[in-house]
Amino acid sequence: MELYKRLLAYLKPYWRRFAVASFCMLIVSLTSGATAMIIQPVLDDIFLRKDKEMLFLLPVGVVLIYLARGIGRYLASSQMQVIGQLAIRDIRNGLFSHIQGLSLDFFSKRKTGQIISRITNDVYVIQDSVSIVVYDLVRESMTMLVLLAVVYYHNWKLATIALLVIPLSGLLIDRLGKRLRIVSRETQEAMADLNAMLVETFTGIRVVQAFGMEKYEVGKFDQMNQTYFGRMRRAIKINELSSPLLEFIGAFGIAAIIWYGGAMVMEGKTTVGAFFSFIMALFMLYAPVAKLSRVYNKIQQALAAATRIFEIMDIKPTVRQAPDAIALPPLASGIEFRDVSFQYDDTDMALSGINLNVKRGMVYALVGPSGAGKTTLVNLIPRFFDATQGAILFDGHDIRHVTIASLREQIGIVTQDVFLFNDTIRNNIAYGRAEAPIEEVERAARAAYAHDFIAKAPDGYETLVGERGHKLSGGERQRLSIARAIMKNPAVLILDEATSALDTESELMVQKALENLMTQRTTFVIAHRLSTILNADQIVVMDGGRVAEHGPHDKLIAEDGLYKKLFELQFRTAMDTVKARR
Ligand SMILES: Nc1ncnc2c1ncn2[C@@H]1O[C@H](COP(=O)(O)OP(=O)(O)OP(=O)(O)O)[C@@H](O)[C@H]1O
Ligand SMILES: [Mg+2]
Repeated sequence: MELYKRLLAYLKPYWRRFAVASFCMLIVSLTSGATAMIIQPVLDDIFLRKDKEMLFLLPVGVVLIYLARGIGRYLASSQMQVIGQLAIRDIRNGLFSHIQGLSLDFFSKRKTGQIISRITNDVYVIQDSVSIVVYDLVRESMTMLVLLAVVYYHNWKLATIALLVIPLSGLLIDRLGKRLRIVSRETQEAMADLNAMLVETFTGIRVVQAFGMEKYEVGKFDQMNQTYFGRMRRAIKINELSSPLLEFIGAFGIAAIIWYGGAMVMEGKTTVGAFFSFIMALFMLYAPVAKLSRVYNKIQQALAAATRIFEIMDIKPTVRQAPDAIALPPLASGIEFRDVSFQYDDTDMALSGINLNVKRGMVYALVGPSGAGKTTLVNLIPRFFDATQGAILFDGHDIRHVTIASLREQIGIVTQDVFLFNDTIRNNIAYGRAEAPIEEVERAARAAYAHDFIAKAPDGYETLVGERGHKLSGGERQRLSIARAIMKNPAVLILDEATSALDTESELMVQKALENLMTQRTTFVIAHRLSTILNADQIVVMDGGRVAEHGPHDKLIAEDGLYKKLFELQFRTAMDTVKARR
């Protein structure tokens, strides 16, 4: 019931259209009744009484009835489908904007393809149903009522006998519908898996081909496709079973009428015309019943899809803005981590008891073994996740009490795996600032040491970079993402340094670009390069989700702790090369 209400809410804005369409449908239904009614005068007046006037009037009547029917049907049918499409458009928009607003934990728990499938396939299932349902449900119910009136008008006893089969049909329809709903859900799940696999193999196509796994992936796909087919086949069988079964049940009603009604005609208790009109109405009446059973099936399929859609709609972002959030003023003194702990799901603590005072304008290098929690720590700053315990404060403002937009506005991020959109170089650099003049974009590109290669590209700043920027080299992509961060001109910068080895020249350019980027900003850099570590004001050494040590390089080396060990392990060779080069 809840589900119906929620779905119907999407139709509510279009109730005016709906009223017009329903009125047109009423006309169509009335013409069905008129068609059944006209049989009586045709038989009794023309064939039996041989009435000349009726011979002229009735054919004209038939044409007029069908004219009204045609117009009504066109208007009703097109309007109902448009209403269905409008509702679907709203559902799709609502779902997309809802998902965009969900927190990162939602995305890390699900496969991209499965999320896509909810917006495409599940919405499509509803779409397929909604247009049919609104149209047929209204039309066939009305037609059924009109025809019921006709049969009862002719002979209520006969009508009651004929309609005894209807409760039986209803029971059958309900049972089949419920089964269909279950199968339908399974079908949609199978399609979601299929989509997930598509996204994964196509984005990872190079790995697939490099490892010669095409056959394996094809086999896997084939298997999933087969699962989908199997479930779909079950759905088809259930769906197609209802109409023939209903018709067969209806045959008993009709047989009874021929037997009983025929006897009445023979005894002269009723006219041939009235009897045929009755039979005609009855035949016409079973058609809407069968149609309604299909509608019921469609509704069940739509409900299965709606359940899946509303499941997503009901997920609240874990990172939410406080109702009384204020706009965060520009960073003045610094950022404080106050006893911060964090836990993904119910795994071990990824961070525990982090206390850190970060001064404005300084560069903090985060170092530590893999899995120490460096990425996790920086992800808390723009509130990709919220701390499980403790707080992060910008100039004393808890970041959970300021608007998310004002917080993120001040933060620039350059991630380890650069993401570029399939758009022009210019739009990638000016992402989020589409109105920025080209001069400003160029200035950012120069500061990021990217201008030279951009100038050489076929269309300069208007060159398309390909999906994820695959038409560019790794170093070029990195410099574009640095230019993007320079464009944003954030007060706080988060850098997850790439570990991927660049050649010395582009390494040098990336290094210089980063130095340009870091000046005048409060910077958190997850450092892999020796030069970055040595240039940092403070080094924060992380281990097992804790801050093991922090301070400037010389102090930490003198303390002879974890940093010294790490430093020697990771960088002795690098140091040697630096020395050798000198
Ligand atoms: N989305 C996640 N869900 C559950 N656990 C996670 C998730 N992301 C990271 N972890 C776990 O949290 C811990 C810290 O991970 P984190 O990514 O912060 O390490 P890191 O210091 O950045 O390591 P690296 O230098 O290898 O990038 C690890 O044990 C990791 O397995
Ligand atoms: Mg990391």
